[in-house]
Amino acid sequence: MSGHPWVALVTGASSGIGEATARRLAREPRARLVLVARREDRLRRLADSLAVPATYVAVDLTADDAPGTVAAHVREHHGRLDLLVNNAGAGWRGRFADAGHANVAQTMRLNFDAQVRLTETLLPLLRESAPSAIVNVTSVSARVARAGSGAYSASKFALAGWSDALNLEEAPNGVHVGQVLPGFIQTEGFPAAELRARAVTRWMVSTPDRVADAIVDAGPGGRAERYVPRPYALAVSARWLAPPLYRRLMGGGAALALTTRTGADD
Ligand SMILES: NC(=O)c1ccc[n+]([C@@H]2O[C@H](COP(=O)([O-])OP(=O)(O)OC[C@H]3O[C@@H](n4cnc5c(N)ncnc54)[C@H](OP(=O)(O)O)[C@@H]3O)[C@@H](O)[C@H]2O)c1
Repeated sequence: MSGHPWVALVTGASSGIGEATARRLAREPRARLVLVARREDRLRRLADSLAVPATYVAVDLTADDAPGTVAAHVREHHGRLDLLVNNAGAGWRGRFADAGHANVAQTMRLNFDAQVRLTETLLPLLRESAPSAIVNVTSVSARVARAGSGAYSASKFALAGWSDALNLEEAPNGVHVGQVLPGFIQTEGFPAAELRARAVTRWMVSTPDRVADAIVDAGPGGRAERYVPRPYALAVSARWLAPPLYRRLMGGGAALALTTRTGADD
């Protein structure tokens, strides 16, 4: 990095992984941050608490005009973009027969379409600012699926596949594209309360700070993908190396802790 500021934009910065990422990125040399989410009070408080210059845009990323609003803000206030972290997202549990296409559509709109639309609008600035990076926060659910999480998995599989392709396409333009695949991380949207309640499953739940470190690895650090915690990569390998075994485990008792929760999911 030369003398210019290093500008990073984090979506979903009002809580959980996004907030931890903003705090982590504020430690990078010459950092300036752009914080994006809907809850303005949270963004303002976070911006005020950081030791580096930070601006924010309170916007619903699923709105038609959201990408244009964010891009105009970045150009006006910062004039460059060195890192885009596509982190905003949510999960709504439900089996397909009950939740139907409506759940798939709302999940895709936030977890996939919103990321793609924002990236499309900011890509010219990322190229102008190269070497630069994009990090997409996908999920272990982007590589394996579980009952009750079909809509979420579909959105994250889509985001992961698109990320992998963009990684290949943008390398010649100096825009590195990485992805971080968290497992169970305790946050507001994904409390993982049942897993934390049992000694036998507590180890499976990790922290937003660890995801934030992985985001640095996958962005400025240049990694293509990072699982958090790392052993989740083994579960993913098992799914592809021994599919029948994986299906037996996920359909049986071993998956109980992963499938009986209600509300948001990883
Ligand atoms: N925690 C886990 O176990 C886990 C595991 C794998 C992947 N992930 C992924 O990690 C990312 C962050 O999740 P988290 O665990 O940190 O959950 P979280 O604490 O609920 O944070 C979600 C963030 O997304 C923002 N957001 C939601 N809808 C939005 C919208 N329409 N427009 C703009 N911003 C919106 C929220 O802010 P506002 O409500 O203020 O808009 C919030 O800042 C998600 O993509 C999630 O799928 C999480």
